[in-house]
Formats: sequence, C-alpha cells, structure tokens
Amino acid sequence: MDPSRITLRPFKPSDAHDMLSWAGDERVTKSVRWKTLATKEEASIFIDQISGPHRWGRSICIDDRSIGLVTVYVGSGNERCRGEMSYAIGVEHWGKGVATVAVKMALPKVFEAFPQILRLQAMTTSENKASQRVLVKAGFTKEGLLRKYLYLKGQIQDAVVFSIVVDD
Ligand SMILES: CC(C)(COP(=O)(O)OP(=O)(O)OC[C@H]1O[C@@H](n2cnc3c(N)ncnc32)[C@H](O)[C@@H]1OP(=O)(O)O)[C@@H](O)C(=O)NCCC(=O)NCCS
Repeated sequence: MDPSRITLRPFKPSDAHDMLSWAGDERVTKSVRWKTLATKEEASIFIDQISGPHRWGRSICIDDRSIGLVTVYVGSGNERCRGEMSYAIGVEHWGKGVATVAVKMALPKVFEAFPQILRLQAMTTSENKASQRVLVKAGFTKEGLLRKYLYLKGQIQDAVVFSIVVDD
C-alpha cells in the first residue's frame, strides 16, 4: 500500500454507505465497544456521534473512500489530561500497514487540537495481537494488563493498556 493513498478527514454524510461495509462486519466490531451497524441509517447516526462533543473522529480513507475510523474520547474534569484512542479498518485492508499509518497521522493532530491532552491511551483485548502491534509500531508503550476489565460483546475480557505521552 502506497502510504500517500491513505488520508484522514472528517466524516461526511455521504460516507454512510462505505461505513456500513466495514462497521457492519462482525469481524471488525468484535474487538470494539460500539455495536455492529445494521443499516445505512445507523451509519448516519454513528457519523453524527463521532463528531459530537468530547470526541475527535476521522475517517481513514484510501483514495478518499472511507475504509475505517480513528477516534479519541477527550477526557474532561479529572480526566482532562488524557484521551482514549480507538480505531478500526475494513477486513479487506488488514495487514497492509493502514492502521499504523493512520494512528501515526492522528497523534500530532490530536495533541495539537487538544493541548490539555498530555496522554493518549488505548486498550485492546489481550488476544488482539494485531492491535497491540499497531500501537507498538506507532510509538505507544505497553503499560500493563488489566484483568477482567472489559465487558465486550457479551464476554468479560482482559485488557492490555498502552499509552503515549506528549514528551515521548
Ligand atoms: C487491529 C486493526 C486495526 C489492525 O489494522 P491493520 O491495518 O491490519 O494493521 P497494520 O497492518 O498497520 O499492522 C498490523 C500488525 O499486526 C500484525 N498481526 C496481525 N495479526 C497478528 C496476530 N494474530 N498475531 C501477531 N501479530 C499480528 C501484523 O503482522 C502487523 O505487524 P507487522 O507490520 O509487524 O507485520 C484491524 O485488524 C482491525 O480493524 N481490527 C478490528 C478492530 C480492532 O481490533 N480495533 C482495535 C481496537 S483497540
């Protein structure tokens, strides 16, 4: 994959069709907290939510077609110094370095857009080795294992927590 084909941009209402093709796929959603989308209308609502307050979200695009997303929940109150990053990619694009490029592109944009965020963290299930590898390649540090931490798609899961701080 030529990295110059990969871009991040805000979602547009017209991305709903493309979004449904990956966000409606249980192979993609089994490791994320949001539910598998079933209709284009649900994709439109999800697009609105991604752009909501306390959330930074971008479509990961190849040749400007939406093939995934990267989002950050922006902390507030006692959590104002941190954000939590998540991402997902359509299955046909797995294993080509797309998520790594996208996360690396997102990091400076988030730190610049939210100067109060000094730490970005990401949590993966312990079995999600591809996601853990993405985080290491993007410069995150593995901090530890949180046992029985997540209730995800009907199952209690151990979580591995990673972070990158502004001084890294
Ligand atoms: C996790 C995910 C985003 C990775 O996207 P991707 O574009 O395929 O990632 P990349 O190609 O940039 O990197 C994947 C790395 O994981 C490695 N990998 C893949 N499967 C693996 C496995 N089972 N065990 C170990 N490493 C694995 C790849 O070899 C690659 O590493 P390398 O470049 O050193 O060879 C994608 O699989 C996805 O969308 N999964 C579903 C949603 C999800 O899990 N999101 C993360 C929630 S925190």
